[in-house]
Amino acid sequence: MALVQITTATELASLRQQWRSEGRSLGLVPTMGNLHAGHLSLVQEAKSQCAAVLATIFVNPLQFGPNEDFARYPRTLAADLQALTAAGCDAVFTPTVAMLYPAGLEQHTLISVPRLSALYCGKSRPGHFDGVCTVVNSLFNMTQPDAAFFGLKDYQQFFLLRKMVADLHMPVRLIGVPTVREASGLALSSRNGYLSTAQKQQAAALYRTLTGAAGELSAGADDYAALCRRAEQALRDTGFVPDYVEIASQHSLLPAAPEERSLVLLAAAWLDKTRLIDNILVERTGGLP
Ligand code: PAJ
Repeated sequence: MALVQITTATELASLRQQWRSEGRSLGLVPTMGNLHAGHLSLVQEAKSQCAAVLATIFVNPLQFGPNEDFARYPRTLAADLQALTAAGCDAVFTPTVAMLYPAGLEQHTLISVPRLSALYCGKSRPGHFDGVCTVVNSLFNMTQPDAAFFGLKDYQQFFLLRKMVADLHMPVRLIGVPTVREASGLALSSRNGYLSTAQKQQAAALYRTLTGAAGELSAGADDYAALCRRAEQALRDTGFVPDYVEIASQHSLLPAAPEERSLVLLAAAWLDKTRLIDNILVERTGGLP
């Protein structure tokens, strides 16, 4: 079936109504476009769980800081529509900034998850997660999905959205989908397009470094601070400027206590002007004293 492109709230409401009358469950895949195999794995997962799949493409200005890459973020709508068609996505909603922020960005109501939004990526990107939560809430309200699919590559984002949904009793199921990587281990990201071929090879060091640190954690290392500082140094040695490497609890996303078993190693680092993020989940089952 052909992909239906929806650009207005009226069309969206009527398609939603049609699917509802047909008894089809709806899976939502929110994106900022420039689609790659990571995004398409969310569409696949949504197709396996829902009778209708709707993707959204919207480069959300509210989640970009003043000195970030909003203006140059890759916009590749024609290729994205082709990729969604090939993936068997049913429809795509491509709203405008004016539709989502009718009163302008400054006057817009915000959704903010306290404390956790200010950690890790939130430290160097103040307001970023308020922008994410706010736009995702609007997309939920406009599309009323039964389930929504997000990548675990953006672990903090997924965690905060899950908390928003739970705290505000939003009637939607959130599904986290594993990170799709290149053969080198580099997590697929629209921002990889900013990298030269040589930098892409260099960039694989981010995952390699996290894998090494995760191995140490699994083997029982419990001086988290030392482990993270060593990982940051390893990143520096490969040409990155680390933003952070931290170890958090998978349950609370707060910095992990040494006795914690379910961990997530989170990192962000700059390669020249490109900021990359990655994470690895670690279950510490054995090797502890
Ligand atoms: P974007 O970066 O376009 O990512 C859209 C979705 O694809 C997110 O859920 C992200 O985690 C997922 N994704 C990205 N790279 C992935 C990979 N390598 N493997 C698996 N999933 C991957 O994240 C956003 O957009 C925005 O913040 C958004 C949620 C759309 C709100 O504006």
